[in-house]
Amino acid sequence: MRRAFIAGNWKMNLTQSTATELTNGLVAKLDDNTSVDVAICPSFGFLSGVAAELASSHISLGAQNLYPAEAGAYTGELNAEMLLDLGCEYVILGHSERRHLPDIAESNGFINLKMKSAIAAGLKPILCVGELLDEREAGQTTAVVEEQLANSLADITTEQVDVVTIAYEPVWAIGTGKVATPDQAEAAHANIREWLRIRFNDLVADTTRIQYGGSVKPENARELLSQPNIDGALVGGAALSVDSFMGIIENA
Ligand code: 13P
Repeated sequence: MRRAFIAGNWKMNLTQSTATELTNGLVAKLDDNTSVDVAICPSFGFLSGVAAELASSHISLGAQNLYPAEAGAYTGELNAEMLLDLGCEYVILGHSERRHLPDIAESNGFINLKMKSAIAAGLKPILCVGELLDEREAGQTTAVVEEQLANSLADITTEQVDVVTIAYEPVWAIGTGKVATPDQAEAAHANIREWLRIRFNDLVADTTRIQYGGSVKPENARELLSQPNIDGALVGGAALSVDSFMGIIENA
């Protein structure tokens, strides 16, 4: 049985004080006996402050990116060791905003380097995959997602993939209020699980957690999360308020 995993991706939002307020609100409300794994992923600048607030809680900390290199001349970047030092357990990699914002335009090859670097350092990556609207309409969803998986996970071994969570985030559903139907999401998740079975083995396929992301709200969380292959959610907008994020966790 896979434990539900709900992660909040705060993206480039909040300030130091609102980040602290949100963190404290979540810590106060999250039941210590929850059966759900919960993580929050603030901007780099808020990591250490949020880590301090999370110290005695059951909420894990994640980052939204890393640079895959040893310390050195990489102005503006943070590597996996720095994120661990700041208290991170998780790191979101391959987010569609980083793949598709034209000035960022991350490739699967670069994401693969980040995956290897995160795993080697002991961070748990949340690898995001998902198709654009045009690609869905052209019937390419499975092909696009499988290509992202194959290239982002290139050379990753069966032992290493143990720490990886996959997040299926159809790009047309992110921040648009247009959520994938439970059937659309379940079909994509089932395909990802079968891909993992072929690329790795039955154990990897049956134990890897696959989150859904894209306009998840308390109102749609229960139906999405009750699908057999949806093990959690990667939440953007609704993770920025205590009530809506808790509402999603309570539905998991
Ligand atoms: P929204 O929940 O705002 O659609 O964002 C989803 C997302 O991109 C999480 O990584």
